[in-house]
Amino acid sequence: MLAIGSAATLSIENGIGVLTLNFPPVNALSHAVREAIVAGVRQANESAELQAIVLICEGKTFIAGADITEFGKPPRSPNLLEVEEAIEASAKPVVAAIHGTALGGGFEVALCCHYRIAVPSAKCGLPEVHLGLIPGAGGTQRLPRLVGAEMALDMMLTGKHVSAATLQSNGVIDELAQEGELRRDAIDFATRIVREQRPLRKIRDLNERTMAARDNLQMFSAIRKSIEKKARGFLAPEYAIRAVEAAVTRSFEEGMKVERVLFDELMLSEQSAAQRYVFFAERQVWKIPDVPESTPTIAIKKVGILGAGTMGGGIAMNFANVGIPVTIVEAKQDALERGLGVIRKNYESSAKRGRIKVDEVEKRMEMLQGTLSFEALGDCDLIIEAVFENMDVKKEVFAKLDRTAKPDAILATNTSALDINEIASVTQRPQHVIGLHFFSPANVMRLLEVVRAQQTSKPIIATAMQLAKRIGKVAVLVGVCPGFVGNRMLFARQDQAQAMLMEGAMPWDIDKVLYDFGLPMGPFAMADLAGLDLGWRKEASSSSTIREVLCEMDRRGQKSGAGYYDYDDQRNPKPSAITQKIVEDFMSKAGTSKRSISEAEILERCIYPMINEGAKILEEKIAIRPSDIDIVWINGYGWPAYRGGPMYYADKVGLQNIVGKLKAYGTKLGPKFVISPLLEKLAAEGKTFGRMTDDS
Ligand code: 3HC
Ligand code: NAI
Repeated sequence: MLAIGSAATLSIENGIGVLTLNFPPVNALSHAVREAIVAGVRQANESAELQAIVLICEGKTFIAGADITEFGKPPRSPNLLEVEEAIEASAKPVVAAIHGTALGGGFEVALCCHYRIAVPSAKCGLPEVHLGLIPGAGGTQRLPRLVGAEMALDMMLTGKHVSAATLQSNGVIDELAQEGELRRDAIDFATRIVREQRPLRKIRDLNERTMAARDNLQMFSAIRKSIEKKARGFLAPEYAIRAVEAAVTRSFEEGMKVERVLFDELMLSEQSAAQRYVFFAERQVWKIPDVPESTPTIAIKKVGILGAGTMGGGIAMNFANVGIPVTIVEAKQDALERGLGVIRKNYESSAKRGRIKVDEVEKRMEMLQGTLSFEALGDCDLIIEAVFENMDVKKEVFAKLDRTAKPDAILATNTSALDINEIASVTQRPQHVIGLHFFSPANVMRLLEVVRAQQTSKPIIATAMQLAKRIGKVAVLVGVCPGFVGNRMLFARQDQAQAMLMEGAMPWDIDKVLYDFGLPMGPFAMADLAGLDLGWRKEASSSSTIREVLCEMDRRGQKSGAGYYDYDDQRNPKPSAITQKIVEDFMSKAGTSKRSISEAEILERCIYPMINEGAKILEEKIAIRPSDIDIVWINGYGWPAYRGGPMYYADKVGLQNIVGKLKAYGTKLGPKFVISPLLEKLAAEGKTFGRMTDDS
């Protein structure tokens, strides 16, 4: 066995050269790997002993893409295209042997090999779109030649990982290996290729599918239309479409040039820089300085849920989806039946849309057991309380849970804003109490705020984080304070949005600015969606706020057909003359006069106070790091990833600019508004949130 640089070895078996890459953690195409591939292919070609080459990887995966940590740094030769040229031009057939995930540049390298073999569990994908990029090593030109423009674009626009079996049926994978026997089967396959004198198959030379697509160019407008909503504001999806259009309408060489121009432009864009930041931020959240990976965890084999309402039902689905049995305890039979009914309907609708198999509906429902008996929670390893948001009710429930649950069971609350230390205090095991703050709809939203109370023990935190991963959530560890991270910042925005109503901006004026900024909706559309009557009681209502008046008029939001907006049958919002009149009446009662508020002011007064609140959250150590706050906002509130999250955005705007504006708005921000000392300090020192810890 011969060492090829620091990242590979070349060995010979039955006349086949096995070039094995070994560059943990994911064999990304860093400089050492690129060099090793070029050198390995050259040496194999020079050796008279060898007749074919197998390119295979050690560790958990085939090449997972270009090395993202090298982006933005000066390029080093050989670049990825040169690596691909070396493979494609090899006089001896090169076989890619794939396990794990061949992603991005890794998949593109595999597409330059003459043949591909994969184990059944392997997956391939082009996830560059999540980094604000398009495939930049020929993927936009080669994949359409193999699978057609439509499927190729689907992979590029969604970034999804496609199974080896599907890829085999589409001609991308030539052979399936036996699971666990990839090396052996790849050598056999290469031997057969040599024996049968198969040609050096180059995907670049296949034109049949791209030529055929020339008769169906309207496909591209249909694809553009279909992604309009999801891709709003993002550059990369449109660029991917343009690159594939070039694959269809131009020669391979010209298409490659188009891909290069588009890729280079994206690589230098602010969007891609932000999305690359998000990639690493999403991986940082799992790292908790005082809870190392070695912390022991508790096995969660059965989960209990209290309350089958909006949240309880959605939370239960998360566990049923991964095969963890759930006991749901309700106070009332009708609420239990309604809750289980909603879950069933959700599953049925997923099956109808082809998201799950039809027989999965029953399988998942069988994981759920509904009951009115509290005692049924006795054998659960984790119990999540999702009853009414009321401290007395929560305390009563936790005292009872403490008596019923197993001694080592975890007791979690889904409260949105109540003090978890106070809830924990009624139990004999506050170290086992934790907040698991799911976001609505809990079966869909990726975010989970894991709330660490004063006495929560490290194994409980480690277990919660591990479980979050198992159910496919992005978990962010936060501390106790009203609203935790996400809602606390939302309240700061809400305050300003309400204040601006009283200065003359209408709900739709404010919402439009935030929508145009890239958020899925503004504060008023969001309030209408959640229901204006959350926490509202008719008996206690005294027409003292705009919201109260709306509820008193039965304008309770989307569910009652009207709220801040009027809604049609399809729930499309329309500015409402009634709401406008209510706002104007409030203004005249308060004696305030209407002024014209610029879009810039609306944006700054909504976003900068959120950033200020984020800084306070950091000061108080409620969040571990600024990037955790960004992950909360991207995954819980739809902050556009191309703007990297509120704290990242703050760094781009400049902290001095933000403090300057907040000071300039002065009393308009309200009597309770205080600038965060941390924000002021960082601004004064010319620092950023991103480099806060490096520099100080
Ligand atoms: N470059 C550099 N580092 C990478 C990387 C990459 N492409 N992919 C993963 N890593 C790092 C992660 O940052 C993480 O580092 P850490 O341990 O220090 O936090 C480590 O590898 C493990 O990653 P995960 O925690 O994500 O491990 P998982 O096992 O959960 O997932 C994976 C593995 C599916 C490969 C996942 O890491 C992944 O999706 N990676 C990104 C793949 C990607 O986006 N590739 C395209 C790159 S762009 C490109 O190729 C451009 C080309 O077209 C020219
Ligand atoms: P909900 O009103 O839809 O459901 C609460 C359910 O709990 C009802 O079905 C009720 O019958 C049941 N219940 C009440 N007392 C009970 C008891 N002692 N034992 C068993 N069941 C009991 O409320 P929702 O919206 O599901 O909220 C639940 C919790 O989740 C609250 O703490 C809320 O703040 C929190 N939350 C809500 C979000 C939302 O968007 N709705 C988002 C995140 C958290």
